[in-house]
Amino acid sequence: KTIYLVTPTYHRLTQQADLVRMSNTLKLVESIHWIVIEDSNKKTDLVKNILEDSSIKHTQLYVSTSNDLVRLNSDPRWKKHRGVDQRNLGLKWLRENITGQINDGVVYFADDDNTYHENLFKEMRNTKKISMWPVALVGGLNWEGPVCKNGRVVSFYTAWEPNRMFPVDMAAFAINLHVILENNDVYINPEVKRGYLETDFLERLGITKDEIEAKAEDCQKILVWHTQTSEPNMKNEIKLQSLGRGSNPKIVI
Ligand code: UGA
Ligand code: MN
Repeated sequence: KTIYLVTPTYHRLTQQADLVRMSNTLKLVESIHWIVIEDSNKKTDLVKNILEDSSIKHTQLYVSTSNDLVRLNSDPRWKKHRGVDQRNLGLKWLRENITGQINDGVVYFADDDNTYHENLFKEMRNTKKISMWPVALVGGLNWEGPVCKNGRVVSFYTAWEPNRMFPVDMAAFAINLHVILENNDVYINPEVKRGYLETDFLERLGITKDEIEAKAEDCQKILVWHTQTSEPNMKNEIKLQSLGRGSNPKIVI
């Protein structure tokens, strides 16, 4: 079974570092297809080169986030959902391009700044409908996600909006490709309240709690961390640039 990884990415100082780190993990995994969608109005060489150097089977797409979803500089990070147009283009690409191999794939939304253990992909590969596991360092908690017993989800550990049907991060689940293809019109809805992207999408895919396949040692093993790369301080670069002595712009960081 192929794992289709849907990864939104956008330009920032740490983009290359994050994508290289992720590609180093993905190189350890067999039978994957990395669909990387740039938040941009064109494909960039930076992303193209990382993908080509990795030798991972990949598809490079792009769509810039529609205006009503763009966060103003004055807005806090959580004000608008991030990566939604990009994930939706990934879903559209799957629906238009993967035909005739229904049941033969798994779809996972893998953000570019998380930390993935190679064994996570072993866990998700045999997903029949939907599988889940905990995600560490998210929601202001050590971890957030399903609490499981004998392979089934019994409850969720979360501190925030606990009334959500599936209070989990995007990195907490994988879905069999046939569910994506059979629910052709279901996309991630950017209009939902903060924190409701995941649960809304899963609910509209017709997922029920009883059918979730618990992975990662009955959800007691952490295999993915919601790490967020901090923004580097460029004060000296800015200072030297203003003096005309900045670093060589041909060096792509
Ligand atoms: C958290 C969740 O982990 C995300 O799955 C969720 O989409 C997001 O919140 C949200 O609120 O919408 P967080 O770490 O805060 O994620 O967000 P980022 O990792 O910065 O962004 C999620 C993905 O979208 C990343 O792959 C990132 O590269 C991409 N992104 C971010 C864009 O494509 N464009 C942007 O302007 C920002
Ligand atoms: Mn992130």
